[in-house]
Parts: sequence; structure tokens; C-alpha cells
Amino acid sequence: MSTQSTDAAPLSFEVHRRDDVRSAAARAEILADPGFGKAFTDHMVIATWNRGEGWHDAAVRAYGPLSLDPAAAVLHYAQEIFEGMKAYRHADGTVWTFRPEVNAARFARSARRLALPELSQAAFIASIRALVQTDVDWVPTGSDGGEKSLYLRPFMFASEVFLGVRPAAEVTYCVIASPVGPYFASGVRPVSIWVSTHYTRAAPGGTGAAKCGGNYAASLVAQMEGSANGCDQVVFLDAAEHRWVEELGGMNLFFVLRDGSIVTPELTGTILEGVTRASVIELAKDLGHEVLERQVSLKEWQDGAGTGELAEVFACGTAAVVTPIGRLVWEGGEVHVGDGRGGPVALALRAALVDVQYGRAEDARGWLTRLA
Ligand code: COI
Repeated sequence: MSTQSTDAAPLSFEVHRRDDVRSAAARAEILADPGFGKAFTDHMVIATWNRGEGWHDAAVRAYGPLSLDPAAAVLHYAQEIFEGMKAYRHADGTVWTFRPEVNAARFARSARRLALPELSQAAFIASIRALVQTDVDWVPTGSDGGEKSLYLRPFMFASEVFLGVRPAAEVTYCVIASPVGPYFASGVRPVSIWVSTHYTRAAPGGTGAAKCGGNYAASLVAQMEGSANGCDQVVFLDAAEHRWVEELGGMNLFFVLRDGSIVTPELTGTILEGVTRASVIELAKDLGHEVLERQVSLKEWQDGAGTGELAEVFACGTAAVVTPIGRLVWEGGEVHVGDGRGGPVALALRAALVDVQYGRAEDARGWLTRLA
């Protein structure tokens, strides 16, 4: 079967506004302290694909529960992918998003890997624009210093009612939106990392480079182990040698060496190709750092913390932006990097990134797309 998109004619998202949207006061209360991923806007995007018609019935509708048959394939075989993006309100009130074409391309790659139909870049961007324009009052102001934004979650899943194991012939695409503050309740403070030696996240030929729910489900038991050992997040090692540092599961990793050069694990097919990762590489070069994409061993991290060769470690992702890492913990030991505050390179890169996203710095590379 072909899983190519059949939306040769541009897909348009008809807007059906609900008449019972929350009051300005109720919205203001949520926007004052949104947390992460707890509150959702008044509307959502939904579209359907099937083998005969391709993409159709694309609309912005009232946010609410989906009605799903218990035999829907996604509930059994996890044929599902998603993206994470943000909408930022600039000081002049306009609303923008960051590199949506890169997310659209990754969504298409994830779709191919999970044997789901592709959604064109135009339809992907049109869907988030339609939702953000409908729920524009839910985009927080970033100007209060809290770096609030509207987190956008496009996702696609196998909705066909069928228990045979094969690519679904009916698929649903949705976008939901959630006003958010910082991903970590502690803000930009260094987080602690547990080394998962019992569990791996991805193996060559597997789904590590795809943004699919299954990767995150598989990481949860390791995350529980990390929490039990007093850590915020888990770092996964490669599946073959259990030697090379890959990623945190929801964030990519960067290492700042004593000489100011920056190293990040190279993309081997088992690491998610982060949009923030790619952007940080470019911004770091702008700030005068040499950036190397190469394998990084756990031993290099452990030893470098002791010798001082390693000046800073940080993680990055759309949700967590740039987050410093202080402590690395494993069965039988731990090391610290930094002085318990974020290092200067991580903080400078964080500032460079959010200044572009919030319109406070020139968007020299055309990374921003206006939504409203
Ligand atoms: C993101 O950074 O947007 C992610 O997708 C990571 C996590 C919240 C799942």
C-alpha cells in the first residue's frame, strides 16, 4: 500500500467556533500560572485520512474528548506520531512560530517510519495557523519575563477499527494547544540525570529517530528508576555497546569543553533530530564556538567532570528550551559539572534562542513564521 499523501488539492481547515468559550477571566486565571501541558484551549484541529479519499474533513472544532472504538488500531499496536512546537507572542501583539517547516519535514519522516500517511508541509502549517488564529487569545504574553508560550501538539494515529497487524487504512490527525510556562517547575536551574544501564531507548533500524509515542512509553520505566534515585531525567546509552551517550528521551545533549568548543552526539538514526538541537548548533557557531557532532562516551562525561575538561553540560528541546545539567548519577557513583547554577555558555545560547523566538533579536535566518 502507498502511504503517500493524496492531498494534492490544498487541505483547508473549516472553522466551527464553539459558542461556549471560556470567559476572559477564566482564561486569565489559567494564563497567570499555566504550568506545562495541563490546560488546553477552546478548540482543536481534526482531520481524517483513508485510503480511498486521502485527507478530508479537516476542521477546527470545539476541544473535547475523541470518540474512539475500543478496537482502534492505535490502542493495540501504537501506530502514532507527534510533534512539539510553540507559538510566541511578540511585544507588538503578533504571534509567531519557530521553524515549522522543519517540524513538518520531521512529521513526514516519522509518518513514513510508522507507515502512516504523510501530511503535506502546507497542510501541516495551515492546521496550526487555523488553530492559533481561532484561539489567539490563549497565546500568553512573553513580555512578563516568564517565557510563556502556547505549546502546539500535532499528532496522528491509526483510528481504523481492525485488529489485524498492518498499516491502518483510516488515520486521524489532530492539533491541540496548551498555554505553558517552564517545562521544569524549578525553571532554569540545573537538573540531575540518571544513567540508564538496564534499559535502552532505541536500536539501529528501530524508531529512535521518529517522534512516536512508543519511544516515550518505552522510556518511562527508566524515568521511574531515575526518580527513585533522586534524578530529574534519564540519559540513554547506545543499544549495541552501552557506551555512547545518546539523548535524554525528550531532549538532546550538548557538552561544552574547557577550550570553549561544543560537542553533541552525532545523529546515528537512533537519536531524535531535534529542531532546537539544530538551531543551537547554528547559534553556537554565531557565538564563536567550534561545534563538533561526534560520538560521546559515558566515560568522557564521567572523567571530564573530574578533570575539569568538561565545563558545562546542557540539554535542549522545544518544551525545555535549553536546560543546564549539573549532576550525573549511576549505580555506584556520581559526578557534578558546574557550580549549581546554569553555565555561561548554556545561558548565552538560551538567551540567543529565546530572543529570536520572542522577537527581541533579529531573525537573521528567517526562522520565524507569522501565525496571527
Ligand atoms: C518537546 O520538547 O516538544 C517534546 O516533544 C519533548 C517532550 C515534552 C515530549
